[in-house]
Amino acid sequence: MSSSERKPIEVIKGINGLEKVVLRGIHGTCVEVYLYGAHVTSWKNELGEELLFVSSKSIFKPPKPIRGGIPICFPQFSNLGPLETHGFARNRLWTFDDDPPPFPPDAANKVFIDLILRPTKEDLKIWPHSFEFRLRITLGPGGDLMLTSRVRNTGTDGKPFTFTFAYHTYFSVSDISEVRVEGLETLDYLDNCQNRERFTEQGDSLTFESEVDKIYLSTPTKIAVMDHEKKRTFLIRKEGLPDAVVWNPWDKKAKAMADFGDDEYKHMLCVEAAVVEKPITLKPGEEWRGRQELSTVNKLLDS
Ligand code: BG6
Repeated sequence: MSSSERKPIEVIKGINGLEKVVLRGIHGTCVEVYLYGAHVTSWKNELGEELLFVSSKSIFKPPKPIRGGIPICFPQFSNLGPLETHGFARNRLWTFDDDPPPFPPDAANKVFIDLILRPTKEDLKIWPHSFEFRLRITLGPGGDLMLTSRVRNTGTDGKPFTFTFAYHTYFSVSDISEVRVEGLETLDYLDNCQNRERFTEQGDSLTFESEVDKIYLSTPTKIAVMDHEKKRTFLIRKEGLPDAVVWNPWDKKAKAMADFGDDEYKHMLCVEAAVVEKPITLKPGEEWRGRQELSTVNKLLDS
């Protein structure tokens, strides 16, 4: 089948028979989403280059979340309290949302899917709150990848609920020692490697030479990840997501993770648009929205 005959949206079997949706944009751009976790596992530019990191050791088998891509962390970021680490949204089977409420108009020539997660009886035992989580995943005409999350409290008991959240994006980078992050300098952060103690980042852009696991607080809405070897810049734009987590496990933690290759830390960096410090509280009927837009600038094309 020639690429012009391919459908813009197709549902096919992925690894271990798990269903995945393929979104095809113009000029050959492409995004893949597993219904398991509503998990974006691939984002390719018009040159067919993969922009997201997925571990070669990822298990792709419930209940283990997929290692890489864009896990959705909900209803909690991190591993505080009785809930599982990063919540359960990333290891539940999402379904297609056939009747999404209206979204504000987007650019033309976009391809998108709407997915939804509602709690099962089992979920309500571990997190006793009725909710609807709607996720729209859009591949824009320029190859940009947009994720819009809408969480609604559908409870009838009059009770509010509170959650934290992250788009746990794993960017694919050529060599972590050649990567720089701009937009987080001079900000306060909580250091997960030091019991979440609060520090202030120095004035320079971030570079990486050891494990990093930091939650930057109240960041600007735009963050840049520059891959010098690839001469590529990732741009992250975010709304409703005040914080940003930066994570690379480095060598020791990498070795300790069963679903992560020993040397793979060299080729990934997580920069996660998040709500951590000030959790969101929704009363019945209220809705929260959090949006992340990812794009790339190929500096080679500019020069
Ligand atoms: C990051 C956290 O967001 O996710 C880290 O800040 C954590 O502390 C990492 O180790 C990976 O988490 P998990 O549950 O996917 O192994």
